[in-house]
Amino acid sequence: MMKDSLLFSGSSNIPLARRVADKLHVALGRVDLTRFADGEIRPWIQDDVRGKNTYVLQSLSNPMDEHIMELVLMGDAIRRSAPKSLIAVIPYMGYARQDKQHRTGEPISARVIAKFIEISKFNEVITVDLHNEAIVGFFQIPVIHISALEVLARSVQSLSLKHPVIVSPDVGGVKRARNLAYRLDIQMVVMEKKRYLDRHDESEHYQIIGDIKGKDAVIIDDIISSGGTIAHGSSSLVRAGASSVTVVASHAVFSGLVKDNLTGAPVTNVIVTDTIAVPKEKYFDRLRVVSTASVLADAILKTVRQ
Ligand code: R5P
Repeated sequence: MMKDSLLFSGSSNIPLARRVADKLHVALGRVDLTRFADGEIRPWIQDDVRGKNTYVLQSLSNPMDEHIMELVLMGDAIRRSAPKSLIAVIPYMGYARQDKQHRTGEPISARVIAKFIEISKFNEVITVDLHNEAIVGFFQIPVIHISALEVLARSVQSLSLKHPVIVSPDVGGVKRARNLAYRLDIQMVVMEKKRYLDRHDESEHYQIIGDIKGKDAVIIDDIISSGGTIAHGSSSLVRAGASSVTVVASHAVFSGLVKDNLTGAPVTNVIVTDTIAVPKEKYFDRLRVVSTASVLADAILKTVRQ
């Protein structure tokens, strides 16, 4: 089925691209990714893409400005050689948290990124767990928005927690938490979080809505960035009587002091997916990474044109 198809990888998450290629039984396409002396990115596609279904897998993770340039330039290079189709596989959509104007004078960056991706005439985009589903509407091309929920749900089940309860760390994440709670047929608790617009990556938890005493809390979030949400959230849950705290999240953005924040927090397990490659130095004992390769491969198979 993947005959006449080629999957290329940008530099952001080659391990995941390899895993997806393995699932599809294809070799990764050949691309020479170099830079000119002045720093400009110079991708050179080395396979013949004419008449083929082509895919570029690139997570818009840190440094996202470089990764998005790679993606659109690789897309342009492929488009100019007349493929049958060209699809952007973006396991993690950077800038998705900038989906609205919080203050006058700010951009709606997620929309700009969507328009930028369209410049290279991708036919479709495949992405995982957008921070806000409405971002699909920023694109004019079709977006296949897939979920890592099933992968995360299975990893929670494998822990065999005695009295599990799903926790949304903020009001914005209630739908995500409800979906997991529904999937696992367990109760849900919601935390109220405040963010400071003038202090990046800082948050504080206020109240816990629901019954947490004696429960094994499972916080689900889309992103772990600084780990501040998890550090504050897990401490509040333990103070409120939770017996244990597990954290599951789709995207391991893992910025700044994340390792200190997570290892210093009262959490027993941290489970993330591989939509972003976690560098060795950010690994710690309680961290487990589960793969989205199968769900991405399934989504890719749906787009193959005969
Ligand atoms: C916020 O709305 C997101 O869903 C995450 O809770 C947030 O991005 C996590 O960031 P941090 O780890 O820096 O607290």
